Amino acid sequence: MVPFKAEHINYSIFRTDADFDWLYPEHFQLMSQKQWTPLAIARKAAEFLAEPGSKVLDIGSGIGKFCLTGAFFNPEATFFGVEQRHELHHYAKVAKNYTQLDNVGFIHANITQIDFKEFDHFYFFNAFYENIDRKNAIDDTIETSFSLYTYYTEYLLSALKDLKAGTRLVTYQGLEEVEQINFKLAWVSETGLLRMWIKEK
Ligand SMILES: C[S@@+](CC[C@H](N)C(=O)[O-])C[C@H]1O[C@@H](n2cnc3c(N)ncnc32)[C@H](O)[C@@H]1O
Repeated sequence: MVPFKAEHINYSIFRTDADFDWLYPEHFQLMSQKQWTPLAIARKAAEFLAEPGSKVLDIGSGIGKFCLTGAFFNPEATFFGVEQRHELHHYAKVAKNYTQLDNVGFIHANITQIDFKEFDHFYFFNAFYENIDRKNAIDDTIETSFSLYTYYTEYLLSALKDLKAGTRLVTYQGLEEVEQINFKLAWVSETGLLRMWIKEK
């Protein structure tokens, strides 16, 4: 059964990607397939991360699709998203207000400003790839360079390395390097794109 509360007047938005994407301006709908996690994947990933009482962080949360889906289907956990682009952060908050979900929050910041130890589990969808793939970038507000890509990737790996055993992580399209920092693969999708990890030590 879908765990919506009666006051969530818009629970139907979580039925299909098109229903969800309708919450946003058209240019964000058009980039959905490339930039935002599909609902079915967000739901599966969030279920793995949503231990009761835990705080889950989406590292580069965009318009908030992963967080809102996770929060809707997992009311026992709280989902946070950190996003560098002001416009995406703004629309994530608008969507939160629309859904009336209270177990979700959005932070406007760069991931380098976040204390990862304040969160229990993490989701990561290929946030830095745009630094080396200009033609698929969300917009032109962010500097592109291979060195920025390397810097953010290394920064993230070092932040994840410091986390305690038992920390869960889901990666979608990349960051397999976490295997080298003691994350053990718990599940991988047939396509190899979606991976679920648990930190060993
Ligand atoms: C591929 S999108 C994924 C969005 C969302 N996680 C989802 O699954 O629907 C990656 C997002 O990460 C953001 N991002 C990239 N680098 C970032 C950084 N250093 N700090 C904060 N956000 C970042 C981008 O602006 C973009 O919105």
